[in-house]
Amino acid sequence: MRDTFNRKIDYLRISVTDRCNLRCRYCMPEEGVPSVGHGQVLSFEELFRVARIAVEQGVCKIRLTGGEPLVRKGLISFVERLCQLPQQPELTLTSNGLLLAAQAGELKSVGLQRVNVSLDTLKPERFEQITRRPGLEQVLAGIYAAEAAGLLPLKLNMVPIRGVNADEIADFARLTFAHNWQVRFIEFMPVSGGLDYPPESRFSAAEITEVLRGIAPLQELARKGPAGPARLFQYAGAKGVVGVIPAVSEHFCGECNRLRLTSDGFLRPCLFCENEIDLRTPLRAGCSDDDLVRLLRGAVEIKPERHHLAEEQGVQTRIRKMQGIGG
Ligand code: GTP
Ligand code: 5AD
Ligand code: SF4
Repeated sequence: MRDTFNRKIDYLRISVTDRCNLRCRYCMPEEGVPSVGHGQVLSFEELFRVARIAVEQGVCKIRLTGGEPLVRKGLISFVERLCQLPQQPELTLTSNGLLLAAQAGELKSVGLQRVNVSLDTLKPERFEQITRRPGLEQVLAGIYAAEAAGLLPLKLNMVPIRGVNADEIADFARLTFAHNWQVRFIEFMPVSGGLDYPPESRFSAAEITEVLRGIAPLQELARKGPAGPARLFQYAGAKGVVGVIPAVSEHFCGECNRLRLTSDGFLRPCLFCENEIDLRTPLRAGCSDDDLVRLLRGAVEIKPERHHLAEEQGVQTRIRKMQGIGG
């Protein structure tokens, strides 16, 4: 599928739930999400139908997100069915790691290829402060279990926030000396108005890179193909790689290859644009596969050229918050 700016759209991110077992202060309020009613969330049957059609239309990479995808019951068989599609899409998952130790082996055995784990601190008390829940040990166990299960390459996502955890950038970067992990630093996106961190707490990609350069000589790696949003670097002699995702300061929209499906059944052509296409209503009204193909292609067609987050300044109060989109 090509959009009107001639970008090839072949990556679908499916949010399987907007629920989460953590309450990260930049993502969710303490009380959790004003829960999408049970009946509004697409069944795995419905999600599978959309994914199958997307794959038939050329999607070759699917990432499952949340909320926290591993909290949804039945996920393993869903992964298995997706992996059995004749086109064999690449299947990956983004998780907060809490339930990974228990599920990594099974996920790998049904065909999941790799995982990205979100982790913002290596200090137990701070973990509890940021996520409002204990669990650092469990997440670390999850990371090691994923590695042992062969869910590789393993990527860590860290969101540095000024005055909160930005002083840990170096500790995270140093993990790459001993581990063959890709440790990525994501610029904080102030998109969920009313949550705990104001826009000024964003630690910019330039600041992150400066800290990384202060640790040891750093070499930038060449970008291969549609490389995704991260700029990658490596320290001499390191096993792993560090990455910086300038989510706000540099839009990488020109290379964007993604569509997003929310857990309540809306196709979202861009992370930051509220324009969405309702699939749930037609799905439940008995639409045909051809109808779904048309809707999918319609979403590709309205994919905007770029987002304007950097120009918009200030806190964004979006209708849908990050946990409803899955990053
Ligand atoms: P890989 O396949 O491993 O490269 O995954 P990924 O980077 O696409 O997935 P992941 O869920 O780990 O995403 C990392 C983070 O990058 C997201 O959670 C967002 O914070 C950010 N990000 C991903 N896609 C976009 C995008 O289209 N625009 C912007 N601005 N940020 C994005
Ligand atoms: N800014 C930057 N990254 C965010 N994530 C969630 N909310 C934000 C935000 N406001 C990240 C999580 C996870 C990924 C899916 O998105 O930390 O790694
Ligand atoms: Fe859950 Fe991820 Fe949001 Fe944290 S950032 S509350 S782990 S969905």
